[in-house]
Amino acid sequence: MTTTQTRALDAVRTAGDLVAVIGASASGKTTLLAAAGIPSHQIVSLDRLRAAVSEPGDQSATPDAVLLQHHLLTMRLRRGLTTYVDNTSTEAAHRLQLVELAHQHGCRAVAIHLDLPLPDCLARNARRAAEARVPEDVLRYQHRMARAARDLLPREGWDEIRHHRTGH
Ligand SMILES: Nc1ncnc2c1ncn2[C@@H]1O[C@H](COP(=O)(O)OP(=O)(O)OP(=O)(O)O)[C@@H](O)[C@H]1O
Ligand SMILES: [Mg+2]
Repeated sequence: MTTTQTRALDAVRTAGDLVAVIGASASGKTTLLAAAGIPSHQIVSLDRLRAAVSEPGDQSATPDAVLLQHHLLTMRLRRGLTTYVDNTSTEAAHRLQLVELAHQHGCRAVAIHLDLPLPDCLARNARRAAEARVPEDVLRYQHRMARAARDLLPREGWDEIRHHRTGH
């Protein structure tokens, strides 16, 4: 992990921000948050919430996880607590919900857009344990959506947008 990667998060750390790390699976979101020393209680992730209400990887638990995520974010933002959202957030509709929620609570919405070339993403995904691996077609789709997000973010109401190219 390089210093640049950690700095991408340091610079946006403001009390009460909602910080969404946006990027395809295996683009390095969770690794970046860990390297920046973000305490796990400040991180909300649908993966973890799915595992909390069911078993890791159970996609059918998504609606319950989304509900929990909404409650958690609401409660933390209401208290003015900085919260990091560690989901792919490659769908515009999901990002807009985050921006709206932050603004409803008078908080800033910060986007950190991770950009990793597709071959690197595919390679990292392939090196993962089978249960953590995303099907290749899904990853290619997410990567396309993440690239599209780069152009969409400025029109989505984010208070701050940072682009971060993760290492190889
Ligand atoms: N800068 C880096 N250099 C090399 N390998 C990295 C780097 N960042 C992450 N990785 C590796 O890439 C893989 C994916 O990283 P990570 O789990 O952080 O991705 P993610 O974006 O959180 O994915 P997901 O959306 O599936 O949770 C991991 O095996 C991790 O060790
Ligand atoms: Mg992750």
